[in-house]
Amino acid sequence: MTVTDMTADTLNPRTNSALDALDAHYLKVHQAGVVFDTKQGPFVALRDIDLTVAKGEFVTLIGHSGCGKSTLLNLMAGLTPSTSGNLLCANREIRGPGPERAVVFQNHSLLPWMSCLQNVLLAVERVFGAKERKSKLEARARAALDLVGLSHAVDKRPQEISGGMKQRVGIARALAMEPQCC
Ligand SMILES: Nc1ncnc2c1ncn2[C@@H]1O[C@H](COP(=O)(O)OP(=O)(O)OP(=O)(O)O)[C@@H](O)[C@H]1O
Ligand SMILES: [Mg+2]
Repeated sequence: MTVTDMTADTLNPRTNSALDALDAHYLKVHQAGVVFDTKQGPFVALRDIDLTVAKGEFVTLIGHSGCGKSTLLNLMAGLTPSTSGNLLCANREIRGPGPERAVVFQNHSLLPWMSCLQNVLLAVERVFGAKERKSKLEARARAALDLVGLSHAVDKRPQEISGGMKQRVGIARALAMEPQCC
């Protein structure tokens, strides 16, 4: 227990327990379903999914290829709308993408005409651009690329780096946004 927790406990136990409950259900998927419209008709990709993730919890989804892992992650990222059910992050309904939820995409999704640094900077500018100077934004992007061991490749374009390096740029991009969920 941290000092902050002890103070909150002593001063206002109700507030503290409410915060604990929020942390324990930080990400909540309730009865979520996704049906894709295809040429062959409706395709049910997900049905009745329930999942709760606590703040700080590390969760792995395991399943065979095509079972719906990416579809579920896309729901949480707000990139795909659910056909049924609902999703909450910090008690707020997920209605679209947000800077508090970052995704490292399966197919790296880097812009081919931009360098590694520019690809990361793009996301950093989106989140911090309104309140920070260009030099600070660039420092954030460089630090994230350094964290994944890519300081030597900041000026390379995606087609000039390996598959694993592309994935690491994606990880740097997600971490650089300082999201609550990744
Ligand atoms: N936009 C779409 N339109 C139609 N069907 C889709 C669409 N996206 C995904 N699907 C189908 O939904 C199912 C789940 O796909 P998803 O990409 O979530 O699988 P996955 O578990 O991530 O697989 P993998 O391990 O291969 O990445 C698959 O059968 C896929 O063909
Ligand atoms: Mg997938």
